[in-house]
Amino acid sequence: MSDRIQTPLITLNSGVTIPQLGLGVWQASNEQAEQIVRFAIDEAGYRHIDTAAAYENEEGVGRAIAGASVPREDLFVTTKLWNADHGRDAALRAIDTSLAKLGLDHVDLYLIHWPLQDRAELVETWHAMEEIQRSGKARSIGVCNCEPHHLDWIAADSDVTPAVDQVELHPHLPQYVIRAYATYRGIATQSWSPLGGTSRSGWGKASKPNTLLHDPTLQAVAARHGKSVAQVLIRWQLQSGLIVMPKSLHPERVAQNIDVFDFELTGEDFEAIAGLDNGERVGLHPDTMDHR
Ligand code: A2P
Repeated sequence: MSDRIQTPLITLNSGVTIPQLGLGVWQASNEQAEQIVRFAIDEAGYRHIDTAAAYENEEGVGRAIAGASVPREDLFVTTKLWNADHGRDAALRAIDTSLAKLGLDHVDLYLIHWPLQDRAELVETWHAMEEIQRSGKARSIGVCNCEPHHLDWIAADSDVTPAVDQVELHPHLPQYVIRAYATYRGIATQSWSPLGGTSRSGWGKASKPNTLLHDPTLQAVAARHGKSVAQVLIRWQLQSGLIVMPKSLHPERVAQNIDVFDFELTGEDFEAIAGLDNGERVGLHPDTMDHR
């Protein structure tokens, strides 16, 4: 299958290109991450893997990359700086720790996982991210979970614009304001929990069942195209110009989730899906995240 898959590329403001579809590995153990990333690269045709220090599976991801049949330079690898590592010194240590665990000399994208609530600290961390990029340890740098005001905090006091803002984004939470403001600033939007999340989404919150994957409107769209609801959700993301990293631990689903380049959603499909916007999150709002 991998020979047939041509994932579109998006050019970031850093000049670096990113495959628009990747594999997310939140809640995978090192062993699970190693197996599923290896399958995704070697069998399913993925070239973009999204992990984080907080996922505690960078070693497994690194082992999969080392063992894969695809050369490192053909892969796009993202990891993220955890909340405990804000501030210059901790940030500079954090990238070295992540690279050592991944077994890599650089990542393609390094992200601040959460902006937290302290403007001065966020700006200091961002300056460290700029240093990290200059050192060659990250080809591009960006943020996650930034609201427009966080992007302003960074823009007011920095040289480098974040390449991406990775936020919770799916038809229940289409994030029109963040997308518009990120576009204005030249920042690409990436979506987390694009399928509506796992059954254990959110930090420190009660589990929320995934309702999107069983939504009747999406089921009707999926039936019209002879595709699954997950494939419709991924297609909606791609046709919306978003960068999307669905997560699964099951090889057949990982393969299914990249098999989305032989159909197109119509305007009518988009109108139906727009009706699902109810503002419901599966994760935390950035203004309430203070866990370190
Ligand atoms: P699993 O890992 O058991 O396959 P997210 O929105 O964060 O990407 O979450 C995806 C959730 O949906 C995960 O719990 C994953 O579970 C499940 N999932 C991923 N791909 C599919 C698919 N093609 N069909 C049904 N469920 C899926």
